[in-house]
Amino acid sequence: MKLTGLRSVELGVTDVAAATRFYTEVWGLAPVASPGGAVYLRGSGAPHYLVALHPRATPELLSVTFNARSRKDVNALHAAVKGAAVGAVGVPAAIAEPGGGYGFAFMDPEGRIFRAIAEDARHADSRDATDRPRELAHVVLNSADVPRATAFFVDVLGFRLTDQTRMMDFMTCNDHHHNVAFAHADGATLNHIAFEVPDLESVMRGAGRLRDRGYRIEWGVGRHGPGNNVFAYFIGPEDFVVEYTAEVGRVDAAYRVGRPDDWKWPPGRVDHWGVSDPPSDRMQAAQRKIRFAGSMAVA
Ligand SMILES: [Fe+2]
Repeated sequence: MKLTGLRSVELGVTDVAAATRFYTEVWGLAPVASPGGAVYLRGSGAPHYLVALHPRATPELLSVTFNARSRKDVNALHAAVKGAAVGAVGVPAAIAEPGGGYGFAFMDPEGRIFRAIAEDARHADSRDATDRPRELAHVVLNSADVPRATAFFVDVLGFRLTDQTRMMDFMTCNDHHHNVAFAHADGATLNHIAFEVPDLESVMRGAGRLRDRGYRIEWGVGRHGPGNNVFAYFIGPEDFVVEYTAEVGRVDAAYRVGRPDDWKWPPGRVDHWGVSDPPSDRMQAAQRKIRFAGSMAVA
């Protein structure tokens, strides 16, 4: 596959300082750069940054960034996206922001903005910590036309569909069960952003730290069906929904794509263990609020 993983999300927030306090002091990321009023935050893993916070008039998702294997693959992806003729497509070039690299931005059929970047900076001091996010695990994006969104990701970007439920399509560009999912909804909004922590202990410790700071667990702790990952969901600043997750399943060539009938919980259950209540009403409302920016401002 030309894309090798999910690297970062670029968020627009109305209060960068408040959001930075949450993502550093509570969520467990660390600042790496702060050019021109923006703040870039890393996890304990190698990616140069996981979250960029840009000042904006309203909270919005500016872009979702994937790593590509090489410049050659960036150029091949660019040709494929242009050929698909679904929305605006930038020109591959040096990326003038922290982490650098070579890449381009593009819109998908519903106006979501993504980037593919190769040769960006990686941290040499990557080291797990039990109470800190390592990398991004996945983003879940709402879609009014999931089959179309999935077809673009599979046919044009080279993702592999791994499971389908009544709620969403899961797909991956590496051996993780999913790094993107599209959820059936009434429009192209952000559902949530998931951060990978090292293990179940880390999910529990992270959840405890959030509770200590006054953030309730909006869904979880539990274990998902597709992906078999453990989870705890929270509402972060400006209603971005964020998840700690661990133990995400790996898929090989033999993995059989699950269909909605394969993923039905017994009555009353919403997770594998049966210990979690359903997602809170507050979180379900927040999971429909954040829209993508209307233009490719961060490219
Ligand atoms: Fe998730």
